Amino acid sequence: MTDDIWTLQRLRDWTCDYLQKNGSATPRLDTDLLLGEVLKLPRLQILMRLEQIVQKEELAAYKGLVKRRAAREPVAYILGRRAFYDLDLRVDKRVLVPRPETETLVDVVLLFLKEPATPEGAVLDLCTGSGAIALAVAKALRARQSERALWATDVSGPALEVAQQNATLLDLQLELRQGDLWDALPQDQRFAVIASNPPYVLHDVIAGLEPDVRAWEPHLALDGGADGLEILRRIAAHAAERLLPGGLLAVELGSPAQGRAMAELLAAHGLQGGKTELITEGPTSLVTVRAPG
Ligand SMILES: C[S@@+](CC[C@H](N)C(=O)[O-])C[C@H]1O[C@@H](n2cnc3c(N)ncnc32)[C@H](O)[C@@H]1O
Repeated sequence: MTDDIWTLQRLRDWTCDYLQKNGSATPRLDTDLLLGEVLKLPRLQILMRLEQIVQKEELAAYKGLVKRRAAREPVAYILGRRAFYDLDLRVDKRVLVPRPETETLVDVVLLFLKEPATPEGAVLDLCTGSGAIALAVAKALRARQSERALWATDVSGPALEVAQQNATLLDLQLELRQGDLWDALPQDQRFAVIASNPPYVLHDVIAGLEPDVRAWEPHLALDGGADGLEILRRIAAHAAERLLPGGLLAVELGSPAQGRAMAELLAAHGLQGGKTELITEGPTSLVTVRAPG
């Protein structure tokens, strides 16, 4: 990128080409988000001002961001935020970048919470990371004027700092607890809903993931052990005793095969009387099971 005159159109074309050559799977979107960050413009405005000349200082700031993206840093970390559901979440390398697929999990939980037979009681987001699931549910419940405690746990203290920051910025209340899965909770605490997007990537697969993920996102958020089921097995082992009668467990995982394995584990651990569903959404699946009422 030389220091001569750059219109938005020229800069946009150049960056798309450059990011594509450097391995970005979404060069056009990345370009517009980075341009928007520097010029403080929404995407549509960029498209409407393609003849505008970019100022020297803007160009210098923009170059810095493009360099980071070319090194495969996720756009969400560069911007320090990511849209999830109807939230604008703060994110950085302490947490996984929330994925659009996980919004399906939020939909399932919110639908369940609308049903008249849903038990009274708290909602748990186990392995909360940035707080994405818990905060999306909390915001929707606030809009419905429905009062339920929202718990969110993670083994990672740094991740919980991000979740707390998001809760504060969104003015939402979370009961945040740090600890290894169920150990984070008081022994007698049960829930009307337990939602989780835990680590489920097979350990040996991580090294072959795109650098955006492998080199930047916390491996603690990804690594599901040798068969990807290490954490899922431990979730399944105690889910039944943590659910209220008629409560819902909804867990995101990888392949449909992993989903079937999880459904079997849950049945083996006392959730066999419930209704189990396996939903496949893009690269992920979702297992939901209702505890007998
Ligand atoms: C796949 S990320 C999901 C983050 C967030 N829920 C989302 O959907 O964007 C998994 C999270 O589980 C946490 N985690 C990993 N092992 C854990 C454990 N043994 N107990 C509790 N949390 C754990 C990680 O720190 C990470 O924040």
